[in-house]
Amino acid sequence: MNEAWLDYLDFRDFEAYKNDVCGFGPDYLIHLGAHTDIEFCETNQEACYQTNTASVENATHIANELGIPLVYISTAGIFSGREDCYDDGDPPNPIGAYARSKYLGEKFVAEHAKKYLVARAGWMMGGGPAKDKKFIQKIMRELKEGTSELFVVHDKAGTPTYTHDFARTAKELIKNEYWGLYNIACKGHTSRLKVATELLSLTGLTEKVTITPVNSAFFKDTYFVKRPDSECLNTKNLNAKGVNKMRHWKESLKEYVEQYYSDYLH
Ligand SMILES: NC(=O)c1ccc[n+]([C@@H]2O[C@H](COP(=O)([O-])OP(=O)(O)OC[C@H]3O[C@@H](n4cnc5c(N)ncnc54)[C@H](OP(=O)(O)O)[C@@H]3O)[C@@H](O)[C@H]2O)c1
Repeated sequence: MNEAWLDYLDFRDFEAYKNDVCGFGPDYLIHLGAHTDIEFCETNQEACYQTNTASVENATHIANELGIPLVYISTAGIFSGREDCYDDGDPPNPIGAYARSKYLGEKFVAEHAKKYLVARAGWMMGGGPAKDKKFIQKIMRELKEGTSELFVVHDKAGTPTYTHDFARTAKELIKNEYWGLYNIACKGHTSRLKVATELLSLTGLTEKVTITPVNSAFFKDTYFVKRPDSECLNTKNLNAKGVNKMRHWKESLKEYVEQYYSDYLH
């Protein structure tokens, strides 16, 4: 539990989930949790399925029973990555257990939920040192440890997605009852290499730390599950609805670093 106000719930347990939600009586059910460690998911596929798909089926039944909308967070990782970027309606073609489990969750929600928002995020950045387990925090940790050389992949493209912008945008969709499936990602397609380069610039470390570009094979022991080459999302559905609160990723990254990491490196 990473916040004092949180209660414990294992949402794989249908009865426990239902009792919890019914006891609270919410206006919406926002199903956020998942196993997000891609290597764990690949080597623990049943646990991955139960947590990332079966629990979403639970959420769908509960939301339907209470007559409330279900909000489900999916991922750009459901695409194969062979195209440069993906529209909301492009056919998913997941390449690993995590992506497959998330796609099956999407599919179940779209086919069975009476009212739903499937919000598909790109490379999430948010939460800060205490919660972020992803790319930004990994780089920041290395910088804190005093590294003078970062090894960063040059062969992966994507769209960063700042959690604050994502939440603001999802709120607009919910408020306006614009239900359906939406890609929600910051403006500007980029790469891991460019994000790391920008991070060095924002932290004033460009002169002190070098970046050595490597391909994904460099990390094959740690990250042995293949990732899509491109996880770039277009936000056509969002733009069409006129509620896109996503900023350019560089602007959002700047705010993220200022708000969450101002003292981190000192
Ligand atoms: N991070 C990204 O780049 C990214 C991108 C696109 C979409 N997403 C999606 O966004 C959502 C949030 O991701 P995140 O990065 O915040 O994930 P995270 O940091 O790994 O957090 C996942 C959360 O799920 C909870 N959880 C796992 N199993 C559970 C269970 N059986 N019952 C109840 N809660 C359970 C975990 O609780 P404990 O801490 O108690 O284990 C944890 O709080 C996920 O659905 C993920 O697939 C993430």
